[in-house]
Amino acid sequence: MPNKIIGFSKLSRAEKIDWLNKNILDDSHQVKLILDKYLNSDKDIQAIHDSFSENSISNFYLPYSVSPNFLINDKIYTIPLVTEESSVVAALSNAAKFWFDKGGFKTEVKSFTKKGQIHFSFDGDKNILEEFIKINKKEILKSTDIIAKNMKKRGGGISSIQLIDKTDELKNYFQLSVDFNTSDSMGANFINSCLESMSKKIKELSDEYFKKNNYSINIIMSILSNYTPDCIVESYAECDINDLVDIANIEPKEFAEKMKYAFDIAKIDISRAVTHNKGIMNGIDAILIATGNDFRAVEAGIHAYASSNSKYQSLSECSISGNKFRLSLKIPLSVGTVGGITDLHPLVKLSLQILDNPSSKDLMCIIASVGLAQNFAAVKSLITSGIQEGHMKMHLINLLIKNNASEEQIRKAKTYFLNKEINSSSVNQFLKLNK
Ligand code: MEV
Repeated sequence: MPNKIIGFSKLSRAEKIDWLNKNILDDSHQVKLILDKYLNSDKDIQAIHDSFSENSISNFYLPYSVSPNFLINDKIYTIPLVTEESSVVAALSNAAKFWFDKGGFKTEVKSFTKKGQIHFSFDGDKNILEEFIKINKKEILKSTDIIAKNMKKRGGGISSIQLIDKTDELKNYFQLSVDFNTSDSMGANFINSCLESMSKKIKELSDEYFKKNNYSINIIMSILSNYTPDCIVESYAECDINDLVDIANIEPKEFAEKMKYAFDIAKIDISRAVTHNKGIMNGIDAILIATGNDFRAVEAGIHAYASSNSKYQSLSECSISGNKFRLSLKIPLSVGTVGGITDLHPLVKLSLQILDNPSSKDLMCIIASVGLAQNFAAVKSLITSGIQEGHMKMHLINLLIKNNASEEQIRKAKTYFLNKEINSSSVNQFLKLNK
C-alpha cells in the first residue's frame, strides 16, 4: 500500500511514473516502456492529449471504427465509432445494410430545450419571494448579457425562467428553473456560467430586498441538469413484413412476431429492460465518444428518462400493424458539434467531417438511428442464432490474427470451429494441423 502523497500533480511525468513504480508496481522498467509505447510520436498531438486531463502519463487507446451504409432521412452516412466491444461495429454495419434497402431510418427532433437550476433555500413568505422574482426577472436575466452575447448570435440563449416551490418535499427549498437553447453546442459551460452569474445577482438583489423582512435567500448550488426530457429525438425504421427475408432461417412473419414479443418483454421486465437498453447504448456511446460528446451525461439522462413512468422500461418500441413492421426509439439527447473537445481533438474533428459536419440537431438524428440499429441487431441475434455465435466468431478471428494465421487458415477455421470450443490452445492446435 502506498503512503499518502501530497503534491502528486506537481511532479513531472517521469517522477509520477517513478512514484508508481516504487510504490505500487514492481520497480522494473517495463512500466515506463509500456507507457512510452502509447505516447504519440508527434509532440504537438501528445501535448493536446496531455492537456485534456490532470496527471496524464500516457494515452489509452480504443479502436476507432467506421460503419458505412447508414441511410438517415434520405442521406447516406458513414458512422465513426469508438468501442472496445468486438461485435458492436460488425452488428451495426449489418443492421445499417439491412435497413438501407428498406428506406433507412426516419428521424425527427421533437424538442430542443435544455435546463439549468439554481437551487436555494428561502426562509420567508412564498408570495413575497414570487414578487421578488417577478420584479427582478429582467435584471437577473440581464446579468447573463455578456456571457450570452455570442450564443444569441447563433440563435440560442435563455428562453424562460420559472420559480418552483419544493417546500413540500424539503424544508425551505426552492429552485429557479432556467430553460436554454444552446444551438450547436452541448452548452454545459454556457449554461453553468449563466446560472452562476444569475445566482450572484439574485444574492445581491435579495440581500437588499428582504432586509426589512429579515428573510434571506441562501444559494445552495447552480448547475445544468443532465435530465433533458425536453430535448427529444425520435428515430424509426419500418418495412413490409415480407421484406424481413433472409434472416437466419426464420420466416418473416415468425421473425416479426418474435421480435415484437422480445421488445414487449423489455417493456414489462426491468432485468431485461436494462440489458435491452444497454444494447442501444452500445451504439450510442460509441458515436458519442467518437464525436467528443459527454457520454456520461447522455447515459444519465437516458436512463432517467427510461424511468419516467415511475418504472424503468425499455426505450424502444416494436409494432406490427397489418403487414407493416415498425421499430422506433425516442430518447433525450443533449449533444454538441461545436465547443468542448470538438475544436481540439483531431479525431473528433475528423469524425464530424466524416458525418459531413452536422448541426447538433442532425447529430441527434444520427445518434438515435445508430441506437435503434444497434438495438435491432442485438435483438435479431438474440431471437435467432443467439448472441454468442457472433461474439465467438470475433474471438476466433482475434486469436487467429494474434497467431499470424493466413487468410486461408482463417477461412478454414471459421467452418472447423462451428461447434467447437474456441480458446488459445484449440486455435494453436488447429494452426499446427493446418499449416
Ligand atoms: C451486449 O453488449 C448487448 C446485448 O446484451 C443487448 C441485448 O441483450 O439486447 C446483446
